[in-house]
Amino acid sequence: MAMALTEEFFSRSAEETREYARQFASALQPGDRVCLKGQLGAGKTEFMKGIAGFFNCAEELSSPTFSLFNIYHGAFRERPVDLHHFDLYRIERAQELEAIGFDEYLFGPHIAIVEWGDKFSDYLSCYTATVFLDHAGDNSRRIVITRQHNR
Ligand SMILES: Nc1ncnc2c1ncn2[C@@H]1O[C@H](COP(=O)(O)OP(=O)(O)OP(=O)(O)O)[C@@H](O)[C@H]1O
Ligand SMILES: [Mg+2]
Repeated sequence: MAMALTEEFFSRSAEETREYARQFASALQPGDRVCLKGQLGAGKTEFMKGIAGFFNCAEELSSPTFSLFNIYHGAFRERPVDLHHFDLYRIERAQELEAIGFDEYLFGPHIAIVEWGDKFSDYLSCYTATVFLDHAGDNSRRIVITRQHNR
């Protein structure tokens, strides 16, 4: 049976958002695919920074939105964990996803995190979790996390 669990958080700073992201990341496993959704500047990349921080990724996260795809090498309990970070903001048509090899990098024994992952409806059902970030005043954000449990 497919079940979804939803949790809601309220963040008052970028650092607090990264902290929620580190907590969220502690429950992630290879094979998970995370959709990050929300308007420009909502904090999707900040949230990604928290996830990368949890896995102690060596690489500096690239500035938001300028690159389509990056791989970060992290670890959890001494086991390597790769993070595949996408940003689909500049992708206009689903066909372009093929050109960047989206499916190959999305599915596999790594953790995939996709900013603007809600943009292409064909992929909506493939995410194991969705994180929605919403502006709620200057430095405040509402964070709604939905996890899929298919068992
Ligand atoms: N509570 C908060 N949570 C997250 N970011 C915050 C918060 N308060 C302020 N900010 C600021 O908002 C900005 C969020 O930018 P970020 O690049 O993470 O957004 P984004 O959703 O990835 O945008 P884009 O769609 O352009 O990629 C940062 O400059 C961050 O410092
Ligand atoms: Mg971003």
